[in-house]
Amino acid sequence: MKIGVIGGGQLGRMLALAGTPLGMSFAFLDPAPDACAAALGEHLLADYGDQEQLRQLANDVDLVTFEFESVPAETVAFLSQFVPVYPSAEALRIARDRWFEKSMFKDLGIPTPAFADIQSQADLDAAVASIGLPAVLKTRTLGYDGKGQKVLRTPEDVSGTFAELGSVPCLLEGFVPFTGEVSLIAVRARDGETRFYPLVHNTHDSGILRLSIASTDHPLQALAEDYAGRVLKQLDYVGVLAFEFFEVDGGLKANEIAPRVHNSGHWTTEGAECSQFENHLRAVAGLPLGSTAKVGESAMLNFIGEVPAVSEVIAVEDCHLHHYGKAFKAGRKVGHATVRSKDRATLDRQVKRVEALIKN
Ligand SMILES: Nc1ncnc2c1ncn2[C@@H]1O[C@H](COP(=O)(O)OP(=O)(O)O)[C@@H](O)[C@H]1O
Ligand SMILES: [Mg+2]
Repeated sequence: MKIGVIGGGQLGRMLALAGTPLGMSFAFLDPAPDACAAALGEHLLADYGDQEQLRQLANDVDLVTFEFESVPAETVAFLSQFVPVYPSAEALRIARDRWFEKSMFKDLGIPTPAFADIQSQADLDAAVASIGLPAVLKTRTLGYDGKGQKVLRTPEDVSGTFAELGSVPCLLEGFVPFTGEVSLIAVRARDGETRFYPLVHNTHDSGILRLSIASTDHPLQALAEDYAGRVLKQLDYVGVLAFEFFEVDGGLKANEIAPRVHNSGHWTTEGAECSQFENHLRAVAGLPLGSTAKVGESAMLNFIGEVPAVSEVIAVEDCHLHHYGKAFKAGRKVGHATVRSKDRATLDRQVKRVEALIKN
């Protein structure tokens, strides 16, 4: 089976690493000449709007999936005419736009931060008056790793901020004084069967994920599965979906969903019986889903800007390096390590050893 992937970054690369043993082959459409997934499949070097290349991709593969959600809606609609596309154009349309996404959560009775659609500085001033400060202004589309957003703390922060973010449609959100951030990686098959991985506790720095630790019997697991289940059903979703939550007042508030495999699920490659990458491919290909059970305690650390010395990373007990083969650059995710252990205290010590190797 040949899978077309829109986007050719590290997520596409890891999908191919998981799918190749299943007998799958891959073609990636990505406008970047140095797309790091290209080492593991064909690379169609083209813009996402290039209809000729999209046509060629559709002719050449059995189905199309995505490794990032900011694909133009027209691209997805165009491809859907010729080839099965999972997740659907509708799921992408909702998940790539923070206003549609939060409005869907609200309609489904899933708690969210207070939010308002912002089309102008006047909208922003009015929304700040009703939501209050602190608040977070985010571009509705194209934001990632904390890019395209700004925390507003004082009235001075508010003036001119709409222009600062590019005078594009935005969302204002109340700032959530969360006690923690967790994410739920879910997978739904074509026949509707749904499975969930254990909740993951995430630590961010400057909007970029640094550390994910898979939990054991998290008290909010059932609630998170209930919320995610509503979204999966609403979207008639096929594939892996990641759901980011804020933990607050002993409950959950929905932050965002990602219609794809997710950085906070990378631990599953070694830490779960079937990884998020394999399960995504199983789902979109119409194959039986794999077990989402943990195989022990598990964590993932991101390498931002540069990867520490390989010999030192893999010298840590049961530590597994994933090097993306990308050019090193400040603020860019260039690799990660997963760490496993039989017990949590040992895991924490292994995580500290890897953290000590990270320079930035
Ligand atoms: N409303 C909020 N209140 C408090 N912190 C927030 C809020 N929104 C975002 N953040 C912080 O910024 C991080 C990145 O924001 P997010 O909306 O998830 O965007 P991205 O698409 O960049 O991941 C979050 O993981 C969280 O740490
Ligand atoms: Mg996020």
